[in-house]
Amino acid sequence: MTRPFRAPACAAIFVTIGLAIAMAAAGPAAPAPQALPPALDTLLKQIKGADTGQLAVSEEDGRFLRVMVAAGRIRHALEIGSASGYSAIWIGLGLRDTGGHLTTIEYDPIRARQAADNVRKAGLADIVQVVHGDAFLEIPKLAGTFDFAFLDAWKRDYKRFFDMVYPRLDRGGLFLAHNVVNKRNEMGDFLNALDRAPNLLTAIVTPSGEGISVSYKK
Ligand SMILES: C[S@@+](CC[C@H](N)C(=O)[O-])C[C@H]1O[C@@H](n2cnc3c(N)ncnc32)[C@H](O)[C@@H]1O
Repeated sequence: MTRPFRAPACAAIFVTIGLAIAMAAAGPAAPAPQALPPALDTLLKQIKGADTGQLAVSEEDGRFLRVMVAAGRIRHALEIGSASGYSAIWIGLGLRDTGGHLTTIEYDPIRARQAADNVRKAGLADIVQVVHGDAFLEIPKLAGTFDFAFLDAWKRDYKRFFDMVYPRLDRGGLFLAHNVVNKRNEMGDFLNALDRAPNLLTAIVTPSGEGISVSYKK
């Protein structure tokens, strides 16, 4: 007499065990992010959808920038590398709570125009100023100091931008740089400079996988 074929029952048990292990390894599901006003949510999704070069920061990184700006009571912010204005909008949302202002610099003329349009559509034109030009030439033309800088230009230039901005960063100010995890091999000199800078406390955070350095000037 032949024995009954039991493979389906065994397979079901293995699948169930496998799923249980996978769910335990993944941990509990992350809570849903805080909702934005629908029009703003739509605009941010449109910017992301049009960002074929994947230049913009992730949504998680954008939310993190907003909280840093608001919690740091930031008043004079600088961004190097606006692209189409995605991160500038998140920073601008934080500045709306603090009464501060952002200057964001972009040298690609088409992206600079898109950034200015998107900032206007977000209702942040009075808070965020988009400057079209090479940040190496435009930063020296800006008056005053900064209490927040977000660096998101080409990675090979990070050290030079840090050298340019650090002397103009207020005590108590924050210097943030993007992609310090996924592109760390392209910016070794910059990461060494963060380590060596006197009076700078740095932590690396990863709201998404790309990594942001957060440096506090004591
Ligand atoms: C990674 S994208 C910025 C993304 C943007 N921060 C966002 O999250 O929406 C880098 C941008 O920096 C700009 N860029 C690179 N070097 C620059 C420079 N020296 N001056 C101004 N913009 C620069 C590039 O044209 C590009 O649009």
